Formats: sequence, structure tokens, C-alpha cells
Amino acid sequence: MLKKQNKKLKFIDFCAGIGAGRLGLQKLGLSCVGFSEIDKYAEWTYRKFFGQEEKNYGNLMKINPNDLPNFELMIAGFPCQSFSVIGQRKGMEDHRGQIIYGLIKIMKAKKTSYFILENVKGLENHEGGKTLKIIKEELNEAGYKVYSRVLNSLDYGVPQMRERIYFVGIRNDLVKKNKEFCWPKSVSIPKIKNYLIDDEEIEFNEKKAAYETFLKYLNNKYNKGLFDIKKMLEEDYLVLDTRQSDLRLYRNKVPTLRTGRHGILYVRNKKFRRLSGFESLLLQGFPKKLSEKTKGKIADVCLLSQAGNAMTVNTIEAIGKKLLNYINA
Ligand SMILES: C[S@@+](CC[C@H](N)C(=O)[O-])C[C@H]1O[C@@H](n2cnc3c(N)ncnc32)[C@H](O)[C@@H]1O
Repeated sequence: MLKKQNKKLKFIDFCAGIGAGRLGLQKLGLSCVGFSEIDKYAEWTYRKFFGQEEKNYGNLMKINPNDLPNFELMIAGFPCQSFSVIGQRKGMEDHRGQIIYGLIKIMKAKKTSYFILENVKGLENHEGGKTLKIIKEELNEAGYKVYSRVLNSLDYGVPQMRERIYFVGIRNDLVKKNKEFCWPKSVSIPKIKNYLIDDEEIEFNEKKAAYETFLKYLNNKYNKGLFDIKKMLEEDYLVLDTRQSDLRLYRNKVPTLRTGRHGILYVRNKKFRRLSGFESLLLQGFPKKLSEKTKGKIADVCLLSQAGNAMTVNTIEAIGKKLLNYINA
């Protein structure tokens, strides 16, 4: 019944990537009226998931809001490069940071009722919190009550550590008296062995050129003498993060998937394996059946990046559910 009611609620998917946000909202019965994405490879995957008929409105900075269909909710994981702690700390000065202004222009013109926005955790402390303050002020000035919070995907049903800042906006005239939007409560962490299931031949061993680099890495000044390969190979689902100069080990979870970070290995059946794009999709909450549509169709390095850029389906579903509770209260 609730799902049927929700179907009437229309949303638009900006900075859509591969559509994790869309999927989270669709799972609640909401319907998508279009998307906006400028990366043709992300669009390729998006269409594999959601169909060829979908309308891509392209660069959101160039959209005339009058050309958009009507929708009540906007979802956007706006680009993080300009705010990220790993970026150059240019923040609002960098034009990519200005995408928030493009989104605000559209929400004002379309009188959008609600929004869900996502960005990297680093935005919270960027320039001592000034960037976040400006963004919230701009959203308030656009006519919205804004809630923001850092949530970890690990708390919402995937075994991936992924801290992101989320914004939920409610247009002032829709704000309810004596009612606050509540963030979702955490759930238990599912078993990692149900995610690291790729059966493709991506074992990581002496036959691979990169294995030699791995051995050198294990013998660098940070790691030398600390790790025993034989011992590690005995522990199924031990996760190895080779991004930093020092090796980091994880159990029952993987570190944050990122674009451009393909150094995650794990142990299965006494063998090292490289985390695959397919497994990364699962770790972002994409269902197995949907994720399988990409198999053998897109370079793994590309899929790893796309998954690393994506939202977590479960987290958006959990936030969306709470927003619907508020709307339907
Ligand atoms: C952090 S990713 C978000 C990914 C997405 N939320 C998902 O779940 O896959 C940001 C996305 O915004 C897209 N983007 C950047 N500038 C854009 C613009 N001006 N118009 C539309 N999309 C844009 C990028 O290509 C990238 O895919």
C-alpha cells in the first residue's frame, strides 16, 4: 500500500553516475522521470541497469529548468573532487564546486519539494567548516529546511566502510509543526563472504606482473617483516588494502571503494584475489542480477571507478524511507 502511494512521488536523478541513488529510491516505489550525467561510460552502465529509453538531460549547468518534467524530489551525489580531503582544497573557488549552485537554480525554478544530496565526508571540515556553512546557508536561502549528517554505509547493510555527508531538504511550506526528520538507525553488518563471490579468473599470484610489485611493497620500509604471506593465505576473506605505503588489513569489511583505487585484494580458498568491479557493485548495494549485466561488457578498471564514485543503494534507501515517514506522517 505504502509502495503504491510512493509511486506517485516523482524524482529526478542528477549527477546520476551509475544510478545507485535512483535504485535506492526505486526500491521504495518512487518513480524516476529522468537523469543528468555527462560521463558517457557512466551513462553506458546506467542504461544497462535502467534501459535505453531513459532521458539523459546532460550537463545540469546547461539545463533550462523549463525543459525538465515535473518532479517532487531531487537526488544528487554532486561531484566531490573540489571538496574532497584528497583534492587540492580549492572548494567553492573551483568551478566543479559550483555545481551546487546549478542544483539550487533548478530546485528553485521547479519548486522542488524535497531533496537528498550526497558528498564526501571531507566537506564537513573543509576550510574549517566554512564550505559546509555556505552550502547550508544557500540551501536555506533557496527556501529549504536542511538536515545534514555523516553516515557510514557499514551501518546500513553492506560490509563497506564508507562515510559520506548527506543533506535532506524539505521546502519550508512543507515543513511540519512539531515534527523533525529523523536519520535512519543502523542495522547489523552482513557477512562479507556473500559479497566476495566473483567466479571470474582474477586470482592474484606469481603469474601476474603486479605480483612482483606487491612483493616489493611487502618488503618496503613500512611493511618489512610484518606480514607473513603464508599466514595471510590461511585466513579466508582477509581483506588487504595496498593503497597506502603501509599495508592495511580488514576483517568482515572492506575499506571505502574509491575511483582510481584498485589496490584491494582479499583471500579466498588460500589464494589472493583482486576485488572485482562486479564485487564492488555488490558492496555498493547493487543486486547480483543487475550487477551481472555488466559482466564481460565493460573494462573492470572502469567498473571499479564507477562503483567507487557511486552512492550506496542501501544508505539512500534508508534515508528515503525516513523521508517518506516524514512526508506521510
Ligand atoms: C560522485 S559521482 C556521483 C555518482 C552517482 N551518485 C552514483 O551513485 O553513481 C558525480 C557524478 O556527477 C557527474 N557530473 C559532474 N558534473 C556534472 C554536470 N555538470 N552535469 C551532470 N553530471 C555531472 C560525474 O560525471 C559523476 O558521474
